[in-house]
Amino acid sequence: MQPLKSKLPGVGTTIFTVMSRLAEESGAINLSQGFPDFQPPQALLDLVTEHMRRGHNQYPPMAGVEALREQISAKVASLYGAMADPATEITVTSGATEALFCAIHSIVRAGEEVIVFDPAYDSYEPAVTLAGAATIHIPLEPPSFGIDWDRLDSALNERTRLVIINTPHNPTGSILMREDLDRLASALTPYDCYVLSDEVYEHIVFDDVGHTSVLAHPDLAERSFAVFSFGKTYHATGWKVGYCVAPEALTAEFRRVHQFNTFTTVTPLQFALADYLELCPEHHLGLSDFYQDKRDYFLEAMHDTRFVMEPSRGTYFQLAEYSEISELPEEEFARWLTETHKVAVIPVSAFYDVPPDTRIVRFCFAKELETLEEAAQRLRAL
Ligand SMILES: Cc1ncc(COP(=O)(O)O)c(C=O)c1O
Repeated sequence: MQPLKSKLPGVGTTIFTVMSRLAEESGAINLSQGFPDFQPPQALLDLVTEHMRRGHNQYPPMAGVEALREQISAKVASLYGAMADPATEITVTSGATEALFCAIHSIVRAGEEVIVFDPAYDSYEPAVTLAGAATIHIPLEPPSFGIDWDRLDSALNERTRLVIINTPHNPTGSILMREDLDRLASALTPYDCYVLSDEVYEHIVFDDVGHTSVLAHPDLAERSFAVFSFGKTYHATGWKVGYCVAPEALTAEFRRVHQFNTFTTVTPLQFALADYLELCPEHHLGLSDFYQDKRDYFLEAMHDTRFVMEPSRGTYFQLAEYSEISELPEEEFARWLTETHKVAVIPVSAFYDVPPDTRIVRFCFAKELETLEEAAQRLRAL
């Protein structure tokens, strides 16, 4: 046999796994990987066990438990004015990651191009590569990390099949506004090109700005897959339950892939989430305030450090520029900070195809206030 030739030769262990492992080995506070150090709401946990006891333990329908799809439909109608039919336009998936993968594979063919904006979430490109397509990277420039529309216009061509956007944006905390979506819609008008909109942080947008979804933009919605994650919303990243909202024709293709990928998603979690969405909409409606308090606490606690920070506008991530502290490149700095000062962070260079020469790391502030205070105390010593 020939030596095995990898289909993803450029892919190693993700930076999130690397930094979380290093944090554990070093006894560092882990502000690297994006997960809360607090629990999901108790009532939601109780509902999960209740549904397990009630016997909701076998395969659910392929598209997701009907009650959950109905709740999702009601939610996107009330938040975004979107009329999504639970029967034909909403699919429950095993995390947003599965939804992203299925969306890409349902429409992207070998030889086509997919545009992503760097820094980009790390699961996009491998899925595009496995589909045999090319990933075209357009950098977002600091400090605002807004989209350079002229660069998008130049990159679009007959081979462009998909543009992937992410708002609120991981890792930069930037957000897209209505004007941005208008501009995107007009850029795409001449092309037979779809949009994959990663909106997993839809409920974490600060300073009363509010989230702008592609679902609220009729021109874009008709060519978009919008992807969401219950893991982010309910402090339960390990549950891996997400969903995709897309027009009927797109959903039909999406489900062809989903059906033979995971087929379904954990049944009792779906029933519990359906109940909880109905019983407690205050949870997701109050999430921006909940995380804004944490963001503000972290910014205040970090005030006396030599990190330079522009307040994050959304997500539970905060970028910090560290050139007053060190000349080290980002990955080396992140390792040094973790091993020597016992606070783990993510180098922003990890999210780029060609990293710019910046000195920026990402902190996750989805943590108890004591955790954030302890981390800031360690960082004040730098
Ligand atoms: C931008 C972005 N998209 C997708 C995901 C994946 O979400 P899930 O855990 O629901 O698969 C994450 C998780 O960190 C993310 O930050």
